[in-house]
Amino acid sequence: MLRWGLIAPGGIAGKFADALTALPDHRLTRVAGRDFGRAQAFAARFGAQAVADPAQMCAMDDVDIVYVASPHSAHAEQARLALAAGKPVLCEKSLTPDRASSQALCEDFRGRGLFLMEAVWSRFQPGWRRVIDLLQGGSIGRVQRIHSSFCMKPAYDPRSRLFDPLLAGGALLDIGIYNLSLSQFAMQAAGQGGVTRFDIDGELAPTGVEQRVEGALFFEGGARASFVCRLDGCSDNQMLIEADAGWIRLHSGFWHAQQLSWQSADGARQDEAHAFLRNGMEYEAQACAEALRQGWLEHPLMPHADTLATLALIDAMRAQLGAR
Ligand SMILES: NC(=O)c1ccc[n+]([C@@H]2O[C@H](COP(=O)([O-])OP(=O)(O)OC[C@H]3O[C@@H](n4cnc5c(N)ncnc54)[C@H](OP(=O)(O)O)[C@@H]3O)[C@@H](O)[C@H]2O)c1
Repeated sequence: MLRWGLIAPGGIAGKFADALTALPDHRLTRVAGRDFGRAQAFAARFGAQAVADPAQMCAMDDVDIVYVASPHSAHAEQARLALAAGKPVLCEKSLTPDRASSQALCEDFRGRGLFLMEAVWSRFQPGWRRVIDLLQGGSIGRVQRIHSSFCMKPAYDPRSRLFDPLLAGGALLDIGIYNLSLSQFAMQAAGQGGVTRFDIDGELAPTGVEQRVEGALFFEGGARASFVCRLDGCSDNQMLIEADAGWIRLHSGFWHAQQLSWQSADGARQDEAHAFLRNGMEYEAQACAEALRQGWLEHPLMPHADTLATLALIDAMRAQLGAR
């Protein structure tokens, strides 16, 4: 039984807690946040207990691992509460708002012999596992182009975590991270090397964070991954992987796709459904359990190096755009 403590009982935390209820060998035991009443109401929904102080919660005997689900700006500080208590952490994306602070966090967890993982849930889902198998098996040949969109139009609120620079707002850290992280994940699976450069264009929101970024990553060997992420408009939010002997489409939204289509040079088009057990977050919880059983400090499907590589791109893109 893996017993979870949760910090910051907000939107995504509810979805994660719901996913745990689908796993017989996982249980949410403790919940803490900035407001004890909110933590109590949340805990009651999932048969857990609220704790007033997140630091105390991390130290409790019935907490084996801590899930951090606050806005990005608070991740490092809250993950460090678990670190101080000697507990491993699954932390929402982006791990922190920049590469340097993520690197320091990763080194500190590694130094204490503790597991830490950025919760890029897509990488563990059955649809994405299938895509990785197809790419590793050479089913579509050599990847030439990837196209992906992650666009939405939330109401503009300068104090919301999407737009407030103090909460590490902006399209790249919140949604573009999926375009960038998963394009690189696919290229790694295809065995085609890393990013050599990027080319982007973008626009800032009135708060100074980026609300639209579009462009391309260029990979060793000539492949490229074009992408668009926007907080000011809509798209089909699919990913298309084009290769010299076929293609794969992850249907909308590509970061939690349960529908795939693909075709190899000599085959008919395949349409596949890869349904979730609950909502897709159960697989990252299982990945944490696997890592702890194996004594891993990083999960091979979401290693620290991948977190840092994506944040290095985001740092450079945000600097180029002059984002706050
Ligand atoms: N994997 C996914 O699909 C997915 C989807 C959405 C979001 N996320 C990630 O999950 C994280 C939270 O997103 P969300 O949409 O769940 O946000 P949210 O509902 O706005 O906030 C989460 C909780 O964090 C706490 N919080 C808010 N502001 C804080 C601050 N300044 N300092 C410390 N705690 C604060 C609040 O709980 P208390 O006040 O009770 O502490 C709030 O309920 C983000 O990093 C985001 O990138 C992931």
